[in-house]
Amino acid sequence: MQSIKIVDLFAGPGGLGEGFSSFQADSRNPFNITVSVEKDKFAHSTLRLRAYWRLLKRHRKPMNALHTYYKGRARRPWTEDTEDLWEEAKAEALLLELGKDEDNAQIYKRICQQISNDEHWVLIGGPPCQAYSVVGRVRVGEKNKKDPRHRLYKEYLNVIREFRPSIFVMENVRGMLSCQLEYGHIIHRIMEDLACPGQGERGVKDYKYSIHSLVADTCYETGMDAAKLDLKKFIVQCEQYGIPQARHRVILVGIREDVTAILPKLIPSAPVTVWDAISDMPPLRSGISRQKDSAAIWKDLVSAEYADLARCAKTAKRHRLTEILTEAGKKVISEALSRGGQWIEDKYSRLPPHAKVLHSWLRDESLGGWLNHETRAHMASDLRRYAYIATHASIKKKNPVGSKDFDLPGLAPNHANWETGHFDDRFKVQLANRPATTITSHLSKDGHSFIHPDPAQCRSLTVREAARLQTFPDNYFFEGPRTAQYVQVGNAVPPLLAMQIADCVWSVLQDAIFFEQKNIEDEVSMMFGT
Ligand SMILES: C[S@@+](CC[C@H](N)C(=O)[O-])C[C@H]1O[C@@H](n2cnc3c(N)ncnc32)[C@H](O)[C@@H]1O
Repeated sequence: MQSIKIVDLFAGPGGLGEGFSSFQADSRNPFNITVSVEKDKFAHSTLRLRAYWRLLKRHRKPMNALHTYYKGRARRPWTEDTEDLWEEAKAEALLLELGKDEDNAQIYKRICQQISNDEHWVLIGGPPCQAYSVVGRVRVGEKNKKDPRHRLYKEYLNVIREFRPSIFVMENVRGMLSCQLEYGHIIHRIMEDLACPGQGERGVKDYKYSIHSLVADTCYETGMDAAKLDLKKFIVQCEQYGIPQARHRVILVGIREDVTAILPKLIPSAPVTVWDAISDMPPLRSGISRQKDSAAIWKDLVSAEYADLARCAKTAKRHRLTEILTEAGKKVISEALSRGGQWIEDKYSRLPPHAKVLHSWLRDESLGGWLNHETRAHMASDLRRYAYIATHASIKKKNPVGSKDFDLPGLAPNHANWETGHFDDRFKVQLANRPATTITSHLSKDGHSFIHPDPAQCRSLTVREAARLQTFPDNYFFEGPRTAQYVQVGNAVPPLLAMQIADCVWSVLQDAIFFEQKNIEDEVSMMFGT
């Protein structure tokens, strides 16, 4: 059977696409990404590099040159022998902006060339979400109503109307459900539009889609009152599906009316914790900002902070805390840690405690090292806080509350409103025994909400750790400066979740193709009376 083509709009670094392209049925990959569109140059570089990686894999070409590029020892990832595949990857991953006339013309041309003869193909993607985000909305207020990003879903809709995918998968933030414009809830309008994409603009209702949830028996069809629907049923809670992260996203699956098969639900699996996901990674130290930095200086500074915190905890008669702070301080002194790098040599020497499924998805033995695993530098005053918070969390299995629990000297930031409790969440460790909180692109700004759970490392998460919590395979390389890498990781759909979505989509298409073939066979046998 021919592979099913995928078009990925607003593709980011390609998390959603990664799940579809890695999905296997009968030992083959039935989905093939043929067009992906992204306007950010760094995310696009990541996307193109991954497209190239897939082509190398498909054509069974050696990965040596690509690995040399990852290590920063070559300026380009291709060789003479694979230049054609590099060009193919460039043609697939388009650095273009949806909504710009001249870019749309190129995007439509490419989609048309790729899917024109295909009865079945799949559109995936999430029109940008910042404008819907709950935090963003509170901050931006009225101005937000005019945000052009609200209208970007129209670009997605236009592609559905023009090219009629058999199925589409649209992902967005939860805040999309409560976002209102002058005409009311935007989600109601989106549902109506997606269910009947031909309506209005051309005055024709030429085909329809039913919009399904992946987790409940909820479906929207044209003519229904979207306001009466329990839209929360479209929210997928990633932590219920083997993702080590509590990420809650709206996922809409649209099925074209002539594709008469049932969409299976995602199958829940056992929870996976932060420690399950990252404890096999090489431990690293942070850097120190605004002063001289070296492993020795860091060690002296951090162990002095631990010793002082332990003294203060002892004076406050907090015996368990004193003990753990002392232990963590000793660990800091005994281990010589590096800050990592874009590439660090280190085989899989540590076994993860649990989560076999996750690790067989993440690991790539042929890599022989770690990509994008480099720490940031922190202010010395923050190192003291990180030390305390990680130690507190390791004892209590929960985060300290800023205004209440930062009760040792030197912990409360010099902030006029600190005592009010409004900033209680400012510093957060990712608790080892739970799924992580949502990995957001905010991680690019500071790491205060993403502190590593190991007290001896005293730092925020690296891009690779964040990528692991997002279930990007270890051989997924993020391009661009570190801040851009964090943004890419935070924006993505967890690939392991996307792979499960691909499974559901494949089931629908397989059934649809089976029934279509059976109908043809029935017609033939009727004609010839066999
Ligand atoms: C939420 S991210 C998508 C993540 C992606 N689905 C994944 O799983 O990795 C949205 C992306 O849309 C891109 N974007 C925003 N406006 C765009 C436009 N007009 N055309 C193309 N890409 C756009 C952003 O740069 C961002 O990378």
